[in-house]
Amino acid sequence: MTNIIIDCDPGHDDAAAILYAAHNLNITAITTVYGNNSLQASTQNALAVLELAKLRIPVFAGEDRPLCGNERLPGDLHGKSGLDGAVLPEPSAAPQPENGIDALIEYSLSDEGCGIIALGPLTNIARAMQLDSSFAGRMKWISLMGGSTTVGNSTAVAEFNIHCDPEAADIVFRSGVPIKMVGLNVTRQVGVGEAEIAALRAMGGTAASVFADLFDFYLERSRSIFGLTHASLHDPCAVVPLVKPELITYRDAHVAIELIGEHTRAMTVCDLRNVRLDNLQTITASRKSNADVAVEVRGSDIVRHVFEAIGAF
Ligand code: RIB
Ligand code: CA
Repeated sequence: MTNIIIDCDPGHDDAAAILYAAHNLNITAITTVYGNNSLQASTQNALAVLELAKLRIPVFAGEDRPLCGNERLPGDLHGKSGLDGAVLPEPSAAPQPENGIDALIEYSLSDEGCGIIALGPLTNIARAMQLDSSFAGRMKWISLMGGSTTVGNSTAVAEFNIHCDPEAADIVFRSGVPIKMVGLNVTRQVGVGEAEIAALRAMGGTAASVFADLFDFYLERSRSIFGLTHASLHDPCAVVPLVKPELITYRDAHVAIELIGEHTRAMTVCDLRNVRLDNLQTITASRKSNADVAVEVRGSDIVRHVFEAIGAF
């Protein structure tokens, strides 16, 4: 069976994605990356969520900064700890001694092969591709939350995970690995508001109660920063194609990562035009697709499915 690795920067929605994936799939390992907060916070939070759910999954710490940048400072949306809003149990497990990049390479060498659910900046995956030129060829698939076919969140056009490390995203989208990309155009339709949080709390159970508190915090930050009436479950959407594929519609497209644009750096330029002719005067042909891009979603069904998973812990 394929080794499934979650690469993440917990983060409230990463935390929900971990339980959603662990309830429905056999997760081999978790690798952590800076992003919503520091690498140290991502790693601590991943361990704490596993402790809460009594899950025994090895956690490997990856990169603490983008390929060509400085160490990331804590982000805005997820609070000082990266997972504010509830007290999570002190982890009894420690991170594995091996670093996350070496772990990704090692798992990719296994006979069963390896797929990655990528929920943060793509730095760890790009580093593995740089260190081992055959890593991409051994990678079965990457299902990632990142980018957008429309608006951004980090900037007007850039989504946070891509914006953290556009060079890493460029390496990954050029790698030839089969990619499923779910972007903000879809994930912002998958949200929890006060009613959903109350329903989660009413489910009872340890994880449901803790996640209701976490989502209360996340909702308040989403409201004050973006003026939203719900908090988006971005990352669980990257798990959906592996557990409930009918809930998200993807279509193939070429995705380019803008690296230079003064106003558009880190934009995922998704060509959804499907222009076949390449001898036109003023219209450029669509390039060969390099990803399946999410275009439609059944948001409330996903929320229900994620809550079912949280309620099981
Ligand atoms: O833009 C949303 C993404 O950025 C999610 O993965 C969230 O956890 C943050 O990492
Ligand atoms: Ca994330």
